[in-house]
Amino acid sequence: MSAAPKVPVAVLISGRGSNMGALIAASLTADYPAKIVSVISDKPDAKGLEHARGFGIDALAIPRSDYPGKADHEAAVIAAIHASGAKIIALAGYMRLLSGDFVNHFAGRMINIHPSLLPAFPGLATHERALAAGCRVHGCTVHFVTEGMDEGPIIEQEAVRVTGDDTPETLAARVLEAEHRIYPQALAMLARGDVRMSGDGQTRFGK
Ligand code: GAR
Repeated sequence: MSAAPKVPVAVLISGRGSNMGALIAASLTADYPAKIVSVISDKPDAKGLEHARGFGIDALAIPRSDYPGKADHEAAVIAAIHASGAKIIALAGYMRLLSGDFVNHFAGRMINIHPSLLPAFPGLATHERALAAGCRVHGCTVHFVTEGMDEGPIIEQEAVRVTGDDTPETLAARVLEAEHRIYPQALAMLARGDVRMSGDGQTRFGK
C-alpha cells in the first residue's frame, strides 16, 4: 500500500527560523505526514529564508512596509499561502499580531509555538518572567491560533526544569531544544488528523 500524500505546509517566520528548521528536518523523513512547501517572512533579512532556500523550499519576504495597512499586508500573505497550495500554516517565531479575519480564514489549520507553558506567560520575555516569578518548571507549548494572543487550544507541551543558576539565556536554550521536539510532533498530529480544533474552540484528540 502506498503512503498517504504529505500535507503541504506553509511556515511563517520573522527571524532565525530554528523551529522552521526543525519542521523541515522532520518533513524530510520518509514517513512524516507533512511537507514544507513555502516559507514566508515579514522581515526580508530573516535568516530562516536563506536556510529554507538551501533545502530548495520556496521562501519569500512580504515586508509589512511594502503595504499601506495591516489588512493589505495580510491579504498578500494569504494570497501567497494559497498560491503555495499549503493546507496547514505553522507560525514559527512570526512576530506579528494577526487580525481576526486572518485567524478565522485558517481556523483549525494554523498552529503556533510559544516559549512558555501556556496559559502562563503569553507575550514576550517569557524566560525572564518565568525566572522572576521563581518558577521551578518552565517549557513550551504548541497551540491552535485563535484571535487572542497565545490563547488558542493547546496541542502539545514539554516541561523544562529550571535550575538555580539559570539565566534567561541558558533557560531559553533548553526550552528551544524542547520546542524543536514538540513542534514537529504537533504538526504531525495535525497532518495525520489525530488532533483538531472543535467548533467550541477545544482541542479534540483522536480521529
Ligand atoms: C521561538 O522561541 C518561539 O517559540 C518564539 O520565537 C522564537 C523563534 O525562534 N515565538 C514566540 O515568542 C511567539 N509568541 P526561531 O526563529 O529560532 O524558531
